[in-house]
Amino acid sequence: MVDYTPHVTSPGYTNGNGLYGKEPWWKDATFYQVYPASFKDSNGDGWGDLKGVLSELDYLHDLGVDVIWLSPIFESPQEDMGYDVSDYRKVYAPYGTVEDVDSLISACHARGMKLILDLVVNHTSSQHRWFQESRSSKTNPKRDWYIWKPARYSPTGERLPPTNWRGYFASSTWTWDELTQEYYLHLYAPCQPDLNWENPACRDAIYADMQFWLDRGADGFRIDTVNKYSKHTSYADAPVTEPHSPHQPAPEMWCNGPRIHEFIGEMRARALEPYGAVSVGELSNTPLASQVLPYVSASAKQLDMVFEFSMIRLGTGGGFGAKYIHHPFPLSTLKATVAKWQSFIEGTDGWTTVFCENHDNGRAVSRFGDDSTPELWAASARTIALWQATLTGTLFLYQGQEVGMKNMPADWSIDEYKDIESGNFYREAVRSGDEKRVRDTRHGLSILARDHSRIPFQWDASPNAGFTAEGAKPWMRVHDEYRDINVAKQRGDPGSVLEFYKRVLKLRKEYKDVFIRGTFKLIDPENEAVFAYVKESERTNGVVGGTPRRALVVLNFTKEEQPCVDVAGILGCEPTQVTFLTGTVSGGESGSVAKAKGTHKPLTSWEGRVYVNFA
Ligand code: GLC
Ligand code: CA
Repeated sequence: MVDYTPHVTSPGYTNGNGLYGKEPWWKDATFYQVYPASFKDSNGDGWGDLKGVLSELDYLHDLGVDVIWLSPIFESPQEDMGYDVSDYRKVYAPYGTVEDVDSLISACHARGMKLILDLVVNHTSSQHRWFQESRSSKTNPKRDWYIWKPARYSPTGERLPPTNWRGYFASSTWTWDELTQEYYLHLYAPCQPDLNWENPACRDAIYADMQFWLDRGADGFRIDTVNKYSKHTSYADAPVTEPHSPHQPAPEMWCNGPRIHEFIGEMRARALEPYGAVSVGELSNTPLASQVLPYVSASAKQLDMVFEFSMIRLGTGGGFGAKYIHHPFPLSTLKATVAKWQSFIEGTDGWTTVFCENHDNGRAVSRFGDDSTPELWAASARTIALWQATLTGTLFLYQGQEVGMKNMPADWSIDEYKDIESGNFYREAVRSGDEKRVRDTRHGLSILARDHSRIPFQWDASPNAGFTAEGAKPWMRVHDEYRDINVAKQRGDPGSVLEFYKRVLKLRKEYKDVFIRGTFKLIDPENEAVFAYVKESERTNGVVGGTPRRALVVLNFTKEEQPCVDVAGILGCEPTQVTFLTGTVSGGESGSVAKAKGTHKPLTSWEGRVYVNFA
């Protein structure tokens, strides 16, 4: 029997049998990230577009999606796929027009869905007119909208950047500007100069651009790199931790800096709250729960939600120089990481998110599942669905996850990798002259590269997978297996990954007290094969002070048969009171299947099941 120490309920919750009237809508919503370049191309130019998204809204609605998060669609030179914005109020022409965004918003709203945009305001593109003005002279009024610093010089007179910091894309964070003879700061590529949030006029301009879209009906923002606006203004060198490199990781110099909560609080008050806009921030390099809570505590009035990356970064060699050196990890590490980020909000007024894919990571079925054979692929993709759908927090899906899209095939050449980060890390390895490093980086990229999630969406078995017209040239190569893995093939097939997602997304809402809002308790943390946990509701089945509603989720994370756990013992009830709610093998029906599916039966390869102590 498991010890159920009662947990403190969060102040925002109304207690007693599922009356969550005061809770914000976005807690129960299912979000879905659309990567617009690769979702659906309406005009045969090989590049996805807004009309393409519009044409598939019914598909998303039918899947059970409530909110679409659209990755950046703004005017941009596309050096970092639109995360380098040159005009926040214009749409990149290949995506469409501002009016197309209006139509998409109305079409979402007409279906009871919402749309959030991607707000990239840690930096702009170097093509943004703000930066063009800023770099034009030291006395330009916008000079201070970016971060300019004089050079340092070595004893021998060599010009050196102001600090030794390494940026994200394998270079210094500083680029020399010949015209005004100063360096500017960029945490990412040189074409992505960091805005200076210390400057109030700069912040005003950002808020005005946010309001532009909220006035047009956008429902909120996913906020890029949200914890990097406040830098430590001492601009000191970072300690040398990567001795082979001139550039050193320095996140402590520019992540969660001294004024970050002030800036975010102001942004919320000025440009989110007046619109009732929802916000979900990208919170990297923040591995302590005590650091995350101040961002997501309701009373702190900062962000509604954040993405915390400990889980999705498993297997990488850290955020900086060794990122693409793959480190296999045991299941117990995955379990402990999930457990930590599931339970950190318990007893607080904070909230969390659930996700295992996005546009910056490899595909979940290839990283956490097993994509080596069609059977293992299907079984593990469904188990991943069940895992995600039963976790606490707001659920975010990434396009293609719902049909089990896989990583790019391992035998594709490095030329198929289009991402600036992949290219820079690979070239850095080649430049080092270290052949092992090149091999390891190449291998790591085949698992972890951002490119895997960016290949065209697989709609059907026609040439180009239905992403773009036959005969058109998609901007990235279509997966070799698109004839086997696509929406058309799975739609209506009850055993498919897609139909399984639809079912579990419904169940998640039907039992939201347990799945979306329940507490999380890991069972048997050391078990390297089975991932089992109990979700517990604040509700009882109508009896005041009665036993809480509980669900036991049991997931076989191996291809071998595994013994099932002691279901009744763990749920704390008599075997006769256990109900089988759903599973990846039965196809997900509940009730009657409970009897057939004896709890003693071993779990087959990658099988997942959910048992509950209520009917
Ligand atoms: C975020 C985005 C990523 C982008 C970076 C710079 O991490 O998710 O795609 O490259 O910010 O904007
Ligand atoms: Ca197009």
